[in-house]
Amino acid sequence: MDITRVSDIAQHDGQQVTVQGWVYNRTDKGKLTFLLVRDGSGFVQCVAFKGDLDETLFDRIRHIPQESSVVVTGTVRADKRAPGIPGGYEIGISDLQIVQAADEDYPMALKEHGVDFALDHRHLWMRMPSQWAILRVRATVISAIREWFDTNGYLNMDTPILTPAACEGTSTLFETPYFNEGMAYLAQSGQLYNEANIFAFGKVYAFGPTFRAEKSKTRRHLTEFWMVEPEVAFCDLDQLMDIEEQFVAHIVKRVLKDRRAELESLGRDISVLEKIEPPFPRISYDEAAEMLKQIRDETDDPEKKELLTFEWGMDFGSPHETELTNRFDKPVFVYGYPTQVKAFYMEPWPGRPEVCKSVDLLAPEGYGEIIGGSERISDHDLLLQRIKEHNLPREAFEWYLDLRRFGSVPHSGFGMGVERTVAWLCGTEHIRETIPFPRTIKRVYP
Ligand code: 4AD
Ligand code: MG
Repeated sequence: MDITRVSDIAQHDGQQVTVQGWVYNRTDKGKLTFLLVRDGSGFVQCVAFKGDLDETLFDRIRHIPQESSVVVTGTVRADKRAPGIPGGYEIGISDLQIVQAADEDYPMALKEHGVDFALDHRHLWMRMPSQWAILRVRATVISAIREWFDTNGYLNMDTPILTPAACEGTSTLFETPYFNEGMAYLAQSGQLYNEANIFAFGKVYAFGPTFRAEKSKTRRHLTEFWMVEPEVAFCDLDQLMDIEEQFVAHIVKRVLKDRRAELESLGRDISVLEKIEPPFPRISYDEAAEMLKQIRDETDDPEKKELLTFEWGMDFGSPHETELTNRFDKPVFVYGYPTQVKAFYMEPWPGRPEVCKSVDLLAPEGYGEIIGGSERISDHDLLLQRIKEHNLPREAFEWYLDLRRFGSVPHSGFGMGVERTVAWLCGTEHIRETIPFPRTIKRVYP
């Protein structure tokens, strides 16, 4: 039997097709029953007309429970009103087989559910159009990430998940006992290993799961998330920003090309994404701090004033990032953060040791940081000094220090969080919906 995918339905207008899938919704109207059938690639309306079908078949269709698995055969016809994703076509049913008639007590039946209930039923929730669409966008983001690096001279290198020490601060480490070797820690980043990789391969990227025991319960934090991390030899901070803007623009373009129907089904304003073209604005931390001061001075809202409390030297919180990004219609680079709020490995700003050669890319519409990156310290003695200042165990970093003894060069890299990027592209409020099975401070189930 030839099976048609719902995503290809437009190519079969006027033809008889067979679709394998599940009943997402059923509506009865007189002699007509409408089934919204999903097959993984899309949602399509299938119409049963009493006059076309024998009585038992029509009766079976009329009583089919939501989520029953089915094989539907019928003729495709264009109809602008037909709901679905992508929509605009329906199937006039000539035959329907039920593979399994679902139990009647489907927990995620078509009614409003609280977020906790939905998250407890994530294994079922992902079948719903919004969740399905977001996860389809995610897959395309991942594909676009690999495509860009693979076609721009970067070698994919996998970095370890079990590691001997911290990369991004000791407060968010997950520990696990490791045989007779003491504690091992789940990787917070593959960066340090990528720095070794560039001295063999020049330009590399790591792409994998990352773990942070984040105590913060925000809409931007997961404890397990996916990060892509390129690292480049002979690359300074300005060149790093050039790479980032080309890379991000490519991802946006791919998603607009391949996932337009999904974005539309989510109600995403696509015109704002169409504006995402390089160059992206670049402002220093000092300039950003000045802008925030101005915004705070201009507002009459005491609550907002309080929320935007800020002094030079502080890291930006989400309210600050939201205000800043609202001033731009593209992602904005903020570079040159205070050394004290950033990781130990960042190159100091020439002549201003209180500032480092770091850059964050903040997504518009209040989404905030999606990328963190920097130029790395290339001098051995300075790096050693920083390791000591941060109370990191020198023995665990001997190999990392070696990289500054044998052919050290200026080099830079960044990490982009997949979930935050998908949340921005989809216009999703909370990043827990952008990963199939989210892990947060309160959740490891299902
Ligand atoms: O800014 P971060 O901490 O940078 C690093 O880890 C560097 N070592 C990367 C590098 O230069 N190779 O994290 C990078 C990105 C953030 O911008 C954010 O998108 C994401 O990772 N991220 C998180 N996403 C979800 N939940 C969390 N708890 C996250 N922490 C960081
Ligand atoms: Mg960061």
